[in-house]
Amino acid sequence: MTPIDKVLKKKDTTINPIWIMRQAGRYLPEFREIRKINPDFIKLCLNEKLASEITLQPLKRFKLDAAIIFSDILILPYGLNQEVKFKKDFGPLLSDLNLDEISKLNENDFVKKVLPVYKAINLVSSNKLVENKNTIGFVGAPWTLLVYMLNKQSPKKKLKNNFFVDNVYINKILYVLEKFLKIHIKNQIKNGANTIQIFDSWAGLLENKYIANYVYEPTFNLVEFVKNLKVPVICFPRGIKDYKTYCKTIKPDGICIDYEVDPLLIRKEIQIPIQGGMDPKVLLTDKETLKKEATKYLDIFKDHPYIFNLGHGVLPQTDPIMMEYLVNLVKDY
Ligand code: CP3
Repeated sequence: MTPIDKVLKKKDTTINPIWIMRQAGRYLPEFREIRKINPDFIKLCLNEKLASEITLQPLKRFKLDAAIIFSDILILPYGLNQEVKFKKDFGPLLSDLNLDEISKLNENDFVKKVLPVYKAINLVSSNKLVENKNTIGFVGAPWTLLVYMLNKQSPKKKLKNNFFVDNVYINKILYVLEKFLKIHIKNQIKNGANTIQIFDSWAGLLENKYIANYVYEPTFNLVEFVKNLKVPVICFPRGIKDYKTYCKTIKPDGICIDYEVDPLLIRKEIQIPIQGGMDPKVLLTDKETLKKEATKYLDIFKDHPYIFNLGHGVLPQTDPIMMEYLVNLVKDY
């Protein structure tokens, strides 16, 4: 059994496996090298050879316990024929959503468009570098994808006031999203993903009265789906205030916490395995501060099943030497 499986399935508290969100990415010179000659980000995600190579880059450098497949949550709208572009220093830009069109799409159309993602997972999961490690597949939660698909760019800190006006319309989109998210998850698992993480990066934007409808219900359905495929599922509802109710309602195998969560409080409130928490900015300081902060999390979760990770993705300006220091520190704890 892999270290991450021991934590998620056996609730082992004697080990602290580690992987890092965005571990394959811009802080690595070898990634920037490939990126420089591949200006189209989506195309790069759909190049199975390069995507698998990028996925494995951090495992060649650091003693990480998992590979997370180099892809993006916005591959899903792309697979639904919504155009997705990444503008430098701005982020994603999507074209108008056409509900009629996405409602008519069938499974084959979708799978054909995103097939290289599954091929990349296959290459990664069969590589020697991930022996006794996890291959993490992932999706965006329905709510977060809905935000991108309707807002057509990152929403910053607020949604437009008219975002919720047409509840029927929103529910129709969520319905389509659920169908294709299940297809996307199923195919990732079929090709070797043995853990699924669900990223709900914009869960924190919602007022309480909308959470049940737009976060709990659609995410619960996905979590049930993954569990039925006998694969552990970790949820990351970034920015929500009430992790306790989230866990009680959705019942994932693991919960990833963001850096605004008080680790002491969450340890008391939550019984399921916990992942993450430390502010990615700590990696921009110095080794002494990093040691102090990382040790704080390890100490607090000493008697709790805990997977070390950050409270959001590693920042592009991070020095790989700091990452190496962190991974070794966690391994030697
Ligand atoms: O290493 C890994 O974690 C796996 C790959 C991965 C990427 N995106 C690659 C990526 C994962 C798991 C994601 C998830 C993702 N994508 C989320 C959820 C997590 C989060 O950050 O909240 C979201 C919201 C997205 C959408 C997205 N993709 C945005 C907003 C951006 C632009 C901003 C940014 O961070 O650059 C991306 C681009 C993106 N996705 C890059 C990478 C490596 C950078 C691409 C580049 O080289 O320019």
